[in-house]
Amino acid sequence: MSKKTLVEAAMGRATDRTPIWFLRQAGRYLPEYRAIRKDIEFVDLCKNPALAAEVTLQPLRRFDLDAAIIFSDILIPCTAMGQHLTFDSGHGPVLTHPIRSAQDLFKLHHPNVEKELGYVGEAITLTKKGLRPDQTMIGFAGAPFTVASYMIEGSGSKTFTEVKKLRYTQPQVFEELMELIAAVTSEYLLMQVKAGADCLMLFDTWANQMTAEDYRDLVFPHMNRVIEAVKAKWDGPLIYYPGQTLEWLFELNGFLGDVIAVDWRSRLPRAIALIENLGLNVSVQGNLDPQAFMAPESLLRRNVRQILEAGQKARGHIFNVGHGLLPHTPPEALLIAIDEVRSFDKTRGSSH
Ligand code: CP3
Repeated sequence: MSKKTLVEAAMGRATDRTPIWFLRQAGRYLPEYRAIRKDIEFVDLCKNPALAAEVTLQPLRRFDLDAAIIFSDILIPCTAMGQHLTFDSGHGPVLTHPIRSAQDLFKLHHPNVEKELGYVGEAITLTKKGLRPDQTMIGFAGAPFTVASYMIEGSGSKTFTEVKKLRYTQPQVFEELMELIAAVTSEYLLMQVKAGADCLMLFDTWANQMTAEDYRDLVFPHMNRVIEAVKAKWDGPLIYYPGQTLEWLFELNGFLGDVIAVDWRSRLPRAIALIENLGLNVSVQGNLDPQAFMAPESLLRRNVRQILEAGQKARGHIFNVGHGLLPHTPPEALLIAIDEVRSFDKTRGSSH
């Protein structure tokens, strides 16, 4: 069986090319996505395995990519826990029944993930049929804190006031909510593995909103326990994305994942040096500015190459953007970035 390039790089093993994929590679910047989306709401699309698989595969038909990420959202599991999810265009996600008290928490439901979120597994199984053996199927979930922040606020937030209020005034409720989400998340990720996921990713976009101490004591342990529970039953790679990465977010003492996805604001060489200083044995993913696709070709190529050169110093490097692609991304610019990655591989021979 041919090896999966991304899985190999994630595990720090040599590959004959640099694996490349893009966060939010399926989505509104693609006309073929907009054509499907005009007749169906986003949440309904996520819950329809045939359409979700189709949308997941769309970018792979256009681009030479090493991975597909299942088309879904980090807030989909909240719908199985008893909150209703909608996406108001221009306003982002809205969840009903925000968790602000012990009573709110008590009303939440611990779902049977196979039964209540099985459509995500079905979409993974269907998508996999469209992949080459060397391409990686990525399953994902939100990390407990980032999911909790939406469940508490009921929407996106700039100040995270309700999250902080719960954390400071009802720490027990905050802790129990984190425990519940962590338990559901590990079951949900294992269900995705069973359905065919070769690699998993945990998104912790808002980890940077807590103080360094609270991240260390209240956020990181729940996230790491999700990885521990998954790893007890599966030996594939897991990528962790700690959002807009502040330096202390690299102080991942005892981190059990395999890859750290680096935000576009960080300097990749510095992130790699920090990871090494901490003695973390991990690969890195990232970290092109998703807005760089607007640059003239020569500048875009230069930015891509700088990241590739920095990546050489890591245990393994997966090329990606440092946050999701935006709706105004010109699809043709992705072809240039991919071409630059492939030509870099030709000049340097086998990786690592
Ligand atoms: O990367 C992929 O292609 C896989 C699909 C994916 C989506 N969301 C699809 C989506 C993934 C991995 C996510 C993760 C996600 N969702 C995160 C973590 C990563 C990050 O971006 O920081 C977060 C915080 C969310 C929550 C979320 N979902 C927000 C805030 C929004 C609204 C903003 C926006 O971009 O519209 C969404 C909606 C969403 N999720 C869309 C897509 C394709 C747009 C939906 C549409 O078609 O209107």
